[in-house]
Amino acid sequence: MKKKIAILLSGRGSNMESIVRNVQNGILKNICEVALVLSNKEDAYGLTIANEFGVQTKVIISKGKKRTEFEQEVIKFLKSYNLDYIVLAGFMRILSPLFVRAYKNKIINIHPADTAQFQGVGGYEWAFKNKLETTKITVHYVDEGVDTGGIIAQKEVDLRGTDTLEEVEKLGLKVEHEFYSEALLNLFKK
Ligand code: GAR
Repeated sequence: MKKKIAILLSGRGSNMESIVRNVQNGILKNICEVALVLSNKEDAYGLTIANEFGVQTKVIISKGKKRTEFEQEVIKFLKSYNLDYIVLAGFMRILSPLFVRAYKNKIINIHPADTAQFQGVGGYEWAFKNKLETTKITVHYVDEGVDTGGIIAQKEVDLRGTDTLEEVEKLGLKVEHEFYSEALLNLFKK
């Protein structure tokens, strides 16, 4: 049975794009289907990309709402989809226990650092400022903490030879784009 997923994002959507490409014509074909892409920001560029790929989109604005109010709206909206997993791809909101409990062990995130070493926003800045020779991209379950959920898979990125934050980001994102789909494939085919 194909896994049914929703992808949640807040911005650029490059990870969402690589997952959708893999679902339509790559390693995730016949493994999962993207029921929709949901954004908490109406101007997220990822929405434009999702539309171009023919994926249904939905905006539920979070700004100006209490965290639980926003999440209740999302939960209510998603209910009829009967999703197997929620895949976060640059979704820049911390999810409260309300949401995490509604989708226990079903929310997956990609983090641009080793979650054991760095949590929160700015994983590449952290690696760059600390002059790390390598960093680890982490795909993990979302639990009630910030980037504390169980690790599903990690991939090391060799940062030697990079001189600027932009170079670090470019290198890291390239790895993210392949690695997220690989990690989802391994999880979904179990
Ligand atoms: C990615 O680098 C992702 O790992 C990061 O945001 C970027 C989103 O890019 N996520 C986090 O920092 C979560 N803590 P994208 O919108 O182009 O996929």
